[in-house]
Formats: sequence, structure tokens, C-alpha cells
Amino acid sequence: MPLNGVSAIIPVAGVGSRLRPHTHTVPKALINVAGKPILAHILDDLMAIGVRRLVLVIGHMGDRIEGFVRAHYGQLDLVFVEQPERLGLGHAVHLAESAAAGGPVLIDLGDTILQADFSRLKVGGSSLLGVREVDDPRRYGIVELKDGRVVKLTEKPEHPTSNLAIVGFYFIQDSALLFECLRENISKDVRTKGEYQLTDALQRMIERGAVMEPLPIDAWFDCGSPETLLQANRELLDRQTQGTSIPGSVVRPPVSIAPDAVIENSIVGPHVTVAAGASLKSCSVKNSIINENARVEDILLDASVIGENALVRGNFKRLNVGDSSEVELS
Ligand code: UTP
Repeated sequence: MPLNGVSAIIPVAGVGSRLRPHTHTVPKALINVAGKPILAHILDDLMAIGVRRLVLVIGHMGDRIEGFVRAHYGQLDLVFVEQPERLGLGHAVHLAESAAAGGPVLIDLGDTILQADFSRLKVGGSSLLGVREVDDPRRYGIVELKDGRVVKLTEKPEHPTSNLAIVGFYFIQDSALLFECLRENISKDVRTKGEYQLTDALQRMIERGAVMEPLPIDAWFDCGSPETLLQANRELLDRQTQGTSIPGSVVRPPVSIAPDAVIENSIVGPHVTVAAGASLKSCSVKNSIINENARVEDILLDASVIGENALVRGNFKRLNVGDSSEVELS
């Protein structure tokens, strides 16, 4: 139990506007990717490294998140804290103070699946910030390093001085100082881009002498937009090795097909997630996510995300084409 006494704070209160229309009816954290909800990947990874206490900051469709977590992770020590207004990540973490104070905290964003050398997380060891080189640092919180330590953090800088982004994973030993800095920024109304930023509180901690080291993130699956969600689906499925065969259909791995999904006369894969209760009939689907109880019939699909209970029905064309003709259907 290397992380006994550590509270993991998981902010999942956001509305997920980039994933609309799906997030009109399903909170982003519960959208399927590579065979299970985004949040299930995150919580399974946290359990694997020995985290037993979770503080989830909920808001948009928080009831559904709470129901899912209580049903599937009821063996953990769970606390749910409501963020009534989406005032920023710093604000979300601040609201977790009374539930998480006392020991080190691990902050893990609810829409990002990560792989790193988590054996470096040790109670009483270094504070660690998950970092990764990115092409467009202006979209992220950025760290500057000196002698292996973080010396400066800047949220979404106009003129970035590094391309090392913070990608949603923070292990903070001195949670008392973190919560103090968050409280101070909120009481002084220190906002960046209109929000109370976690990055700004971490910078304040560094100014007060806190020591933080970078934790290189080996694999990073951001599930926040349709494009990155499908990319995460592809890359996570590539890491899974189960084989599936379905009589009467062709399965091109890697795929994740729920045991009770119905697949008839179809070609499925590569890189397809089919969730529980969904059905595919006479179609060819690749690089797509088909959510719970969706029905897809008579269609070719690529790079598609089909919502829960949706019905998608195509048709077969009737063509009467003479010899040596050229027909292109778009
Ligand atoms: P995002 O910035 O991706 O926001 O938050 P979002 O609402 O989820 O998605 P978009 O930008 O509207 O598409 C990153 C993580 O931080 C949480 C979100 O729920 C998400 O898990 N968050 C962010 C909060 O819990 N509260 C906040 O005030 C801000």
C-alpha cells in the first residue's frame, strides 16, 4: 500500500462543451473509450497504484457520476463534493479541502488518461507534476525547469518560454500549503483567463519555497474533444490484446465489443468500441465508438461517435451502371 493516506482529487464538474452533443445527456467522464468509461480507466489506474481514497468534485450531471462510482468503486473511501459554479480547476480543487486535507493529494483530471512511472509517487518523497512536450504550449499550463526542479509555472502563456506542458496529473506532498495558496488566490480574486487556476496556486507555492519535480508522462490520452477521444480509443485499443470472433461477421482487431452487444452480418474494426446493449446490423464500422444501446444499421461508418440509445440507419444504393463507366459516391 505505497499510497496509503493519499487522497486523489478528481475534478469532473465541467460541462464538456467540446464533446457536445454527447455531453448534453452523458457527463464527459462517463463517455466510453476503449471498452469502458473514461473515468473507469482513471479510477482503475489509481487503484492499481494503491490509492484508496477518492474525492470527486462533481457538477454537470454529477448524480450520474456519483451513481456510477458508488456502483463500481464502492469498496473505496468515496467523497463527493459539489462545485455549483464552474469557476476553474483551482476552484474545484479548493472545494475538496475539507475532504482531502491532512495528507498528500494527487490531483488527476477526469478527462485525461495517463501512463507514467508512478513508482516515483511516495508519501514523504517529492511533489511531482506530470509534464509532456507539446506542439502548442500556449494552450496549456507550462513549466520551466532548472536543475531538475520546477522553478516557474505559467497558465496559457502568450509567449511560452518552454514547450513542457502540465497535462493533468499533480502529486502534492504539502496539501496544507496548496489549499492555503488556493484560498489566497480566491480571496484576492486572482484569475487567469477568467478562472481560478490550479497553475497559479502552484506558482504561489513555489514562490513560498515548495519543491516540485517533473514527472514525465509516457502516454497521454486526452479525451476532451471528438478527435482526441477517437485518437485515445485507437491508441488504448492498440494496447489491448483480446481476440474476438463473431459468427456471421468479420472482426478486425483491435476492437472492444461488450458481451451483450448484437453484431449481425457486419464488418467491425479496426479500432471500434461497441458498448453494452448496442447493435450493429449489416454495416461496416471502423475507428468509431458506439455507445450503450445505440442501433446502427445498413451503413459504412468511420471516425464516428454514436450516442446512447441513438438510431443510425443508412441504406444500400441501387445503381444501373454501364460498362466502362466511372461512378463516385460521396
Ligand atoms: P476542461 O477545461 O476540459 O473543461 O476541464 P470541461 O468542461 O470538462 O470541457 P470543455 O472545455 O467545456 O469542453 C478539465 C477537467 O477539469 C474539470 C473538468 O470536469 C475536467 O475533468 N473542471 C474544470 C472542473 O471540475 N471544474 C472546473 O471549474 C473546471
